[in-house]
Amino acid sequence: MSTAARLHVLSGASVALIIEVPDCGVPLWRYFGPLSAAEHAALDGAAAWPAAAARPLPPSTLDSDPPLSVLPVHGFGWAGQPALAGARPDVAVRGSAGERDWAHDFVLDDLQHLPDGLRLRLVDATAGLAVTIGYALGAQSDVLVAWAELENLGAGPFRVDWLAALTSPLPAGVDRIIGFHGRWTLEFQQAHEALGVGAWRRDNRRGRTSHDSFPGVIVGEVLEEDEGVVYGMHLGWSGNHTVLIEPLADGRRQAQLGEWFAPGEVLLGQGERYRSPPAHLSCSAHGLNGLSANFHAHVRRQVLAWPGATMTPRPVHLNTWEAVYFDHRLDGLKELASAGAAVGVERFVLDDGWFHRRDHDRAALGDWWPDARKYPQGLAPLIDHVRGLGMQFGLWVEPEMVNPDSELYRAHPDWALHLDRRALLTGRNQLVLDLAQPAVSDYLFEKLDALLAGHPIAYLKWDMNRDLATAGHHGAAGYRRQTEAVYALLGRLRAAHPAVEIESCASGGGRADYGVLAHTHRIWTSDCNDALARIDIQRGFLRFFPPELMGAHIGPEHSHTTGRRHTLAFRAAVALFGHLGLELDVRTLDVAARAELAQWIGIYKAWRGVLHGGALRQGGGDGPLFWLQATASDRAAALCAVYRRREDAGRYAPPLCLAGLDPARDYRLHALAVEKVPHARGTTPQLEDLAAGRLVLSGAVLGRYGLPLPPLPPESAVVIAVRAA
Ligand code: GLA
Repeated sequence: MSTAARLHVLSGASVALIIEVPDCGVPLWRYFGPLSAAEHAALDGAAAWPAAAARPLPPSTLDSDPPLSVLPVHGFGWAGQPALAGARPDVAVRGSAGERDWAHDFVLDDLQHLPDGLRLRLVDATAGLAVTIGYALGAQSDVLVAWAELENLGAGPFRVDWLAALTSPLPAGVDRIIGFHGRWTLEFQQAHEALGVGAWRRDNRRGRTSHDSFPGVIVGEVLEEDEGVVYGMHLGWSGNHTVLIEPLADGRRQAQLGEWFAPGEVLLGQGERYRSPPAHLSCSAHGLNGLSANFHAHVRRQVLAWPGATMTPRPVHLNTWEAVYFDHRLDGLKELASAGAAVGVERFVLDDGWFHRRDHDRAALGDWWPDARKYPQGLAPLIDHVRGLGMQFGLWVEPEMVNPDSELYRAHPDWALHLDRRALLTGRNQLVLDLAQPAVSDYLFEKLDALLAGHPIAYLKWDMNRDLATAGHHGAAGYRRQTEAVYALLGRLRAAHPAVEIESCASGGGRADYGVLAHTHRIWTSDCNDALARIDIQRGFLRFFPPELMGAHIGPEHSHTTGRRHTLAFRAAVALFGHLGLELDVRTLDVAARAELAQWIGIYKAWRGVLHGGALRQGGGDGPLFWLQATASDRAAALCAVYRRREDAGRYAPPLCLAGLDPARDYRLHALAVEKVPHARGTTPQLEDLAAGRLVLSGAVLGRYGLPLPPLPPESAVVIAVRAA
């Protein structure tokens, strides 16, 4: 493909991006969506987009009406949201304190084909600006990664108010959206809305990814689980963001994603550049499950960096938080570890409460050395005990934070993000350290490095428990610098301790995005371990993230955050589909409960290869029944869970159709640990066979007619193993 060609086609497995280079001006994004090989061949290198000529200028329109380009800008007739906003401040214009270079007009300066994509350099010589746009389309995943970089070529600083990482048109007819909202203990809630004549927009100004405004959306004409063309997009960034979808004059819409800036946050000196975080866009002709499969493949291949380059089987965790909270006693913790090991736990994670004078959440953050009262010989005796039981040891830290009541704050009050002459604002009694100050990051690196170098610690649970506010860095807004400094600190630690895995936690799922995943290996999805609430938290999460990254713990019978009670079978069936852990005090369980817990952990270990490497399909939406199906890539096995949220008026549960199995093969079906689910509603010989693992049905029957389901009481589940017979 030569750079002179007018249409440039990037191809994935079954979608393509088509960019047109016009005679003058800025390239146009013509198409992103399903494209067959024959269509591709017909278009690549063609002179122009076939439909472009059919667009006469309507009355009462400027004589040149710019089409949506890859970089729509303000000032020369484009009336929509510009992809770039900014100006050169503090320049006197006709005697007033004005700004210039706020109007932009770019031309293509250079187009490069790279092995995985396209790079476009656009220049506005008058304004003294250059924008480089990068596109890379995953050949297997069908996920496009896009970014934009602004360079100030002119004299004097340029203030950047907005630079979209991605500007993408959406086809006419796309008028349904799934946005994500939530709060602490109720993250990743999906909101189905109609797109109308106004713009749809979400801004996040919390300084971290947030619980209430996950930086991703899914759009389409219909938003079904297995059918229809759907588009999903996500900004890989752990700070502020904007997602905007705006109607265009021709019935389409444009979507823009980028970083939200506080006023004056990005000021580029001459020759300086600002590069956006990457935006990730995908499209599937197979509905929401097809889209999730694309994102899962993308994260598995491109976003994550596992220690040693390969994921090890995800070890079963025991996290101490809900078992002991701040009440750390060495003997009790050893007993807890022993009880965990006996039921099959593989990694023991010591949560909050272990460090210098940390008895509650009002003090001690910043003082990252073991509490000499609770751990007179340091952490070594506990770590040795844990490792002696054959488990890995993990440790909770919250490096970005400081309590005013801490040795660190008393020594360095100026290390907290603050605004001069303004009051400080605490959250959970804590302040945020200004990590963009090298001395602060150095201090944190030294403390964490000492812990990791001094002990065989396999894992850090890296927490971040408050929003940023009064986030001043030398007086200017410091959100962006803070996020970059967090990434830099994580990167520095990973480089020094490459075998250590890190979990991203922020009061549960407040920092879940592809940006942080470049440095971490698990996300603590939510502080809510209530199985019923978790179904919806997890299904929103799983739209963008594969299950092996989803921290999912079996909590106590009596949920600490909602007060609801659930059977162990229900709690286990919900946690099973993520990276399994326990968030309960195993010591308090009787013999029968420990045996049942060990049985569920055994099921997880037997199936984690399928769960964490296969295809995941969701079904049932918001209905009374919701199900998950994880299918091995060779189609020889699948694990299904069916959850009954609530009763419904149906006399019988509908059969569950399983997709993706080999129609020509027979499968043996086995409802696992089924005796633990209360069945007050009768049975049949076929259900008895299902419970006993004797039921055999073909892939064709399972796909077309479905699998008979036992009657399930509200807030219960059945987990069914499917294996080629
Ligand atoms: C946050 C986390 C919890 C736990 C506590 C400890 O809330 O989300 O899992 O680690 O902090 O203080």
